[in-house]
Amino acid sequence: MIKGKPFVKWAGGKRQIIDKLKQYVPDEFNAYYEPFVGGGALLFELSPKNAVINDSNKELMNVYMCIKDDKKFDLMCHELNKHEREHCEEYYYKIRDLDRDKNRFNRLSDYKRAARTIYLNKACFNGLYRVNSKNEFNVPFGKKEKVNTYEGQNLGVICGYLNYNNIKILSVDFEEAVKDAKKNDFVYFDPPYDSDTTTFNSYTENGFGKEEQIRLSKVFRNLSNKGCFVMLSNHNTKLVNELYKDFNIHVIKAKRNINANGSKRGKVEEVIITNFEK
Ligand SMILES: C[S@@+](CC[C@H](N)C(=O)[O-])C[C@H]1O[C@@H](n2cnc3c(N)ncnc32)[C@H](O)[C@@H]1O
Repeated sequence: MIKGKPFVKWAGGKRQIIDKLKQYVPDEFNAYYEPFVGGGALLFELSPKNAVINDSNKELMNVYMCIKDDKKFDLMCHELNKHEREHCEEYYYKIRDLDRDKNRFNRLSDYKRAARTIYLNKACFNGLYRVNSKNEFNVPFGKKEKVNTYEGQNLGVICGYLNYNNIKILSVDFEEAVKDAKKNDFVYFDPPYDSDTTTFNSYTENGFGKEEQIRLSKVFRNLSNKGCFVMLSNHNTKLVNELYKDFNIHVIKAKRNINANGSKRGKVEEVIITNFEK
C-alpha cells in the first residue's frame, strides 16, 4: 500500500520522529483518534481503517474535507494548478490578503479556500501558519521562484485513503473530539508544546497555555480509565513531568526545523507518554 504524507509543512510536525513514535504504537487497537492532527504525520504513517481526526484550525480541516470529497477534490486541484502557474510575489500577497475582506472570504467556496491554504503553506516564509488577532494570515512571502503544491501523487493517495476508509473529520476542541472514544481505541495527542519559559497566565501565541495542558492531562486520565490506549507527545518540561508522573514517560531527542529564528533551531528534548507498556 502506498502511504500518504503530510500535504502541508506544520509547526510541531512529527515526520522527524516518526520512527520513534511508531515504536510506542500498540500492536492492535480498534479506532484511531488524533485530536491535534496538524499535518497528520502519524495518521498517514499508520493509515488506520477507522479514524477520527480533528484540529481546531478550521482552514486546515477544510482541506482534509475537500480532499475527501471527489468533486471538491478535482476543483481544488484545478485551483492549485492555477496557483502554481501564476505564482510570484504579487500573486502571493493577492491570495494571502483575500481574508482581509471577511464578507468576501466567507463567500469563497470550500475548495478555493482549501487550495489557498495549501498554496500559502508552500509559498510563505518557512511553511508557518500564523494569523493576527483579526484572524488574518500574516506570514510574508517565502521568496521561492516555483512552488510545488500538488506534490506528485501525494494528494491522490490521501484522497484514496480518506475515501476508502472510515475517516471522520472534525474541527472542534480536542476534548469534544475524543468524547466517543471507547475501550481499546487508540488516542494520540500531539498538542501545542508546553514550555518551561512561559508562566501561568502569560500570553501564549498559540492560545494553548498551562491551563490547557492541565485540562488535557485530565482528558488523558479519563480516557485511560475508560480502557483506551493513550499516547501523548510534548516537550520535556517540569509541568509535563508532573502532570503525567503516573504514566510511562519516554524521553527522546528531536530536531526541530520550524523556528523563524535560525539560532533557536536545534535539538530539544521531547517526551512520548503512554498509559501502556510495549
Ligand atoms: C503540534 S501541532 C500538531 C502537529 C501534528 N501532529 C503533525 O504531525 O503535523 C498542534 C495542533 O493543535 C491544534 N490545536 C490547538 N489548540 C487546539 C484545541 N483546543 N483543540 C484541538 N486542536 C487544537 C493546532 O491548530 C495545531 O495544529
